[in-house]
Amino acid sequence: LAYPDYLRLLPKTELHCHFVSTLSAARLISLADRYGVELPTTDPDELFDYSDLADFLVAFRAATDVLRSPDDLATTAYDGVRAAVIAGNLRYREYGVNPQYFATRGIGYTELLDPVIDGLRAAERDLGVGFRIVVAINRRESARSAVELVEQMVRHPYAEVVALGQDDLTPENTEDPGRFAEAYALAKRHGFKTTAHAGETATASAEDVRIAVDVLGVDRIDHGYRVLDDAELTARLRDRHLPFATTPLSTRVLSKWELDADHRIAHMIRAGLNVSVSTDDGVFFRTDIGREYSEGLLDFGIDAAGAQAIALAGIDGAFCDDDEKARLR
Ligand code: HPA
Ligand code: ZN
Repeated sequence: LAYPDYLRLLPKTELHCHFVSTLSAARLISLADRYGVELPTTDPDELFDYSDLADFLVAFRAATDVLRSPDDLATTAYDGVRAAVIAGNLRYREYGVNPQYFATRGIGYTELLDPVIDGLRAAERDLGVGFRIVVAINRRESARSAVELVEQMVRHPYAEVVALGQDDLTPENTEDPGRFAEAYALAKRHGFKTTAHAGETATASAEDVRIAVDVLGVDRIDHGYRVLDDAELTARLRDRHLPFATTPLSTRVLSKWELDADHRIAHMIRAGLNVSVSTDDGVFFRTDIGREYSEGLLDFGIDAAGAQAIALAGIDGAFCDDDEKARLR
């Protein structure tokens, strides 16, 4: 077995995956056509090129607008699991779902989650791929609306909705993680786990990561690459074994970073941080969970033992119960 094939076939979990981005490119374009949603371009070669994170998020928001009917949502859920099993032997996945995007289009919290969970449960039955859901605060929205989102999580409990996260960006293109402290505190009081996108691109900083950890009290960090700019924080989070859900191939697009041994994720791994790898937005970054290993980890120069450790970190950092973790190991 050639090493890239070994990496592709290794059983995997994925902790950082936005539900909308599990759409296939063909379905994204055909649904946009059906509903008359204007994409930045319909040329697949250009559709997936962005100048930066804010530019990518324009395309991402357009894609949320093509998922309208319960069948659009359930079919996307099911087909996305099947594609990931074929592409990279996916065994378990956590999905970021951003209800505030859908609310602005008239789709309510349970109207969104019911079909998504139906589709994912059917895929779990047929393919044995477990899942949990991380409800994401939209950073474009107010701190008050984030609290209301958590109130909805409490009012409509689902066994699979286990955590609160945050994605998108403020209109000022800053992360400003601390402003959602009240929403995070409320989620924690109700037993939810927490994560946050922090320290992803050049407009972010190690301080954003520190605020997510110390002010929001997160159990995990999405991205977090800027942590390396603060040696003390890096050492503290290494000692705490705080999970970082990183996404190698997306950084090539959004930060123009080469995938080599000098990549920030490679440095994070060598620094002893608890790093797992995910796709983030498969369709938008032309990636899948197999390629994050067979191109990302391969090009970082990670050996077989190192790749196995990263796959195990993806189980360790998951927000599921211990029975599910034992099944995955
Ligand atoms: N960063 C911020 N918001 C996002 C991302 C990301 O990488 N992906 C989808 N929404
Ligand atoms: Zn993300």
